[in-house]
Amino acid sequence: MNPMNNVVLFGATSAIATAVARELVDTGARLFCVARDGDALEALLADLRVRADDPEGNRILGARADLADIDGHAALWQQAQEALGEVDSVLLAWGTLPDQAACNASVDATLQAIHVNGTSAIALLGRIAPDFEARGRGVIAAIGSVAGDRGRQSNYAYGTAKGMLAIYLQGLRNRLFFSGVDVVTLKPGFVRTPMTEGLNRAGALWAEPETVARGIVRAMRRGRDVAYLPGKWWVIMTIIRLIPEYLFKRLKL
Ligand SMILES: NC(=O)c1ccc[n+]([C@@H]2O[C@H](COP(=O)([O-])OP(=O)(O)OC[C@H]3O[C@@H](n4cnc5c(N)ncnc54)[C@H](OP(=O)(O)O)[C@@H]3O)[C@@H](O)[C@H]2O)c1
Repeated sequence: MNPMNNVVLFGATSAIATAVARELVDTGARLFCVARDGDALEALLADLRVRADDPEGNRILGARADLADIDGHAALWQQAQEALGEVDSVLLAWGTLPDQAACNASVDATLQAIHVNGTSAIALLGRIAPDFEARGRGVIAAIGSVAGDRGRQSNYAYGTAKGMLAIYLQGLRNRLFFSGVDVVTLKPGFVRTPMTEGLNRAGALWAEPETVARGIVRAMRRGRDVAYLPGKWWVIMTIIRLIPEYLFKRLKL
């Protein structure tokens, strides 16, 4: 089991990462929370400090950052390490759900969606990985998506970014395996969070962020390679991946 005592959460105010933070606080972990919205970050830190009985903010720390700004990544990672001492786990959890119709009409919108959901995460992983590799332990996890498993007309800008992230994590996992570092790819299905507000969220395929968060913590502790969350998505995506392309392109998904 991987220890998760000193954890950095990037995109900590996302509904899923917030639920992960609450899980970890209950186990006594020290957290460094990174988020873009300063007010939301302060509210999250205040909530976690009450839960942790940490009014001075010794266990629950954080910083504001726009994670799409890759020039700030090196200093941010340095700050997190200085705040926590040895970091044993990181979770990358930020993202946006772009409007595919807007992306179809704009190359800039497409590239922006791919940057926020894909290349910016890869840039940060590139900063973090050498330190984990040098220490020879720990767990690096990032939230991808089932959307990255197959291109669909309704969300392929987002899917491209998450698919690219998954391939990068796969290679990083192969590289870091030999240093004893676990790299975990998390693939949630549909989750009721602010990201999916406005969609029809009824039905058995939709999960709560708390359910997905429990799966994330379990997968990170166990050092799983890839975790579909909830697990039934592994079955669904296996079937979806098996549909031949000449049929799949006719499905208007
Ligand atoms: N919800 C789903 O159905 C679902 C399914 C599969 C995967 N996921 C993935 O799960 C992760 C968490 O999403 P969620 O569903 O919990 O959504 P959420 O509650 O809407 O959170 C998204 C978070 O990403 C942050 N963010 C966006 N761009 C950022 C940037 N440039 N710098 C820093 N933070 C930024 C947002 O911060 P602001 O408040 O500043 O905008 C927000 O805190 C994402 O990677 C998402 O792609 C979600």
